[in-house]
Amino acid sequence: MTKRKDVETKYMEARDEVYRALRSLNRRDFLRVSAAAAGAVAANGLLPPHSFTPVSVASAQGIEPFRFAYISDSHLYAPEINDRFIRQLMRAVDDVNRMDPQPDFVLYGGDLAQLGQPAELEIGKQILADVRAPLKMMVGEHDWYLDLGAKWRELFGEDKYSFDHKGVHFVVLNSVVEADFWTARGLTPMERMRTVAGLDNQRQSPFSVGEEQRTWLAANLASVPPSTPVIVFSHSPLYKLYRPWNFWTEDADEVQAILRRFRNVTVIHGHTHQLLTNRIGNIHFHGMLSTAWPWPYAPEGMPALTIQMNRQNPFDAADGLGDGRVAVHPDGLVDKIYDLWNRSRITVSREYTTSNGRADRPAVPNLPTY
Ligand SMILES: [Fe+2]
Ligand SMILES: [Fe+2]
Repeated sequence: MTKRKDVETKYMEARDEVYRALRSLNRRDFLRVSAAAAGAVAANGLLPPHSFTPVSVASAQGIEPFRFAYISDSHLYAPEINDRFIRQLMRAVDDVNRMDPQPDFVLYGGDLAQLGQPAELEIGKQILADVRAPLKMMVGEHDWYLDLGAKWRELFGEDKYSFDHKGVHFVVLNSVVEADFWTARGLTPMERMRTVAGLDNQRQSPFSVGEEQRTWLAANLASVPPSTPVIVFSHSPLYKLYRPWNFWTEDADEVQAILRRFRNVTVIHGHTHQLLTNRIGNIHFHGMLSTAWPWPYAPEGMPALTIQMNRQNPFDAADGLGDGRVAVHPDGLVDKIYDLWNRSRITVSREYTTSNGRADRPAVPNLPTY
């Protein structure tokens, strides 16, 4: 008697079939796989990744509620070395492209490449070219330390900039500036890159925004009234979480001081590859998911507002990964929505962070993996 295949086996077989063709980045086949994944989620009674949730309008200050999406930390290698991370970024692009209605824009949160190689950044740009909504880019340390940003800037432009959208002032920072640890040691560009990529090797400087960008930020914000909501994108968390793993920004206190006069500030960051929520005074912080791998939580000093994801299934390479979106309310504060690919969605609402965790506590994401 033939053993009936379970849904996971069928799903993995469908994926394998398509992934065999993926070396040529066959997008049509890839879309077919994503549909299979969505079907598997539905079969397990979990929420589909992108059912539309309207944003409640709590107060009218002239700011129209809107949504943007994010994709982050894809850590691409050249396809002949590793195509799994490439497939996973394509899955995220497909996921975000299925949003209905489409987000106003998509923020890429940094670490597009693994070792800053031109081929890694170029394939990343090629895949991200399929994003339907306008794309905003941010840099991570893995993109930067081979050539100190030369290739990244050639492909994507400025590493720090600001823009205004529907009454909110947005700032994108390069928060992975390191003091020169390489010249005195005579490191080659690749040795420098590998040192930075090894987050916990204690052989590099901590990340910082740096004096030059802090001066730029202060000048950029000088004409923005305190009542204007500000949303900042940084790759590293703009607070001091755990220095031994470089989950840390050395001059976070100075950057926070620049942001303190605003009524409502949100910082959305990459780098930590996990659900992470913090609040320091007027500043609400949310970490983004990675499309490549989930990091474990730091062994000490976790922000009290963080709803920890349980350990990922070691037999499922995509567990704990995903993309997400952010619903911006009229006061500029946000609901941070984690679209975990193989688990139910987690929403960390504005009510949860403004009440310091007393209201609207998110469910612990402990459902079985799909
Ligand atoms: Fe990363
Ligand atoms: Fe990073």
